[in-house]
Amino acid sequence: MKHSALLAFCLGFALAIGACKKEETTVTPTPASLYDRVGGTAMVNDMSNPGTMIEKGRLTLRSVVDSSIFVIAADPKMQPYFPTLLGEVTKGDLTGFAKLSKNFTDFMCVATGSKNYTYGGLNMKAAHDPAINKRIPMKISNADFDAFVGDIGTGLAKNGVTSANNAQLVTDLVALLNTTRADIVQK
Ligand code: HEM
Repeated sequence: MKHSALLAFCLGFALAIGACKKEETTVTPTPASLYDRVGGTAMVNDMSNPGTMIEKGRLTLRSVVDSSIFVIAADPKMQPYFPTLLGEVTKGDLTGFAKLSKNFTDFMCVATGSKNYTYGGLNMKAAHDPAINKRIPMKISNADFDAFVGDIGTGLAKNGVTSANNAQLVTDLVALLNTTRADIVQK
């Protein structure tokens, strides 16, 4: 009698485990966010600010943003859009650069799916409307939006991400930038 009760218990236990296992295998994994794919939340040393740590995803995005700002600043097609910033930098004043770097990086962190940063700048429509943001002197054309995205592609390449070695990531980041086109192109 005792034996059969034990046998029934073991059988029930084995069936329960089997049922649990079956359930586990049907769970669909959450796809990695773009933020995870550029490094995610793992903490690494921030070489630009010795003694501090930074999320690897943010470090990647900040590096790409900073490289891109330099590429954009040197691009004759882009220069007419940035007279305030270029004027400041020429005089050795980097406050506008630092603010743009932070805001653009925050924007990219949030847009790629980071949970630990927030964006506090103007929305994309206001940021690119010369009537609201006095730091931009004119409205942006479709062709110049494309040129700007091309410069960000160069900024990505400067950080080792190219269509040749990471085609899907480049495609997905460009697609993300393109979601802002309707708000940013205002002429
Ligand atoms: C591709 C998507 C783009 C994104 C995600 C983006 C994002 C941003 C962000 C976050 C800011 C800062 C806003 C603030 O400080 O409140 C900004 C400012 C600005 N953007 Fe864009 N932008 C894009 C495209 C462009 C294009 C195509 C141009 C010009 C051709 C442009 C020109 C500017 C200028 C001139 C500023 C002001 C810079 C300064 O503070 O001196 N942006 N943008």
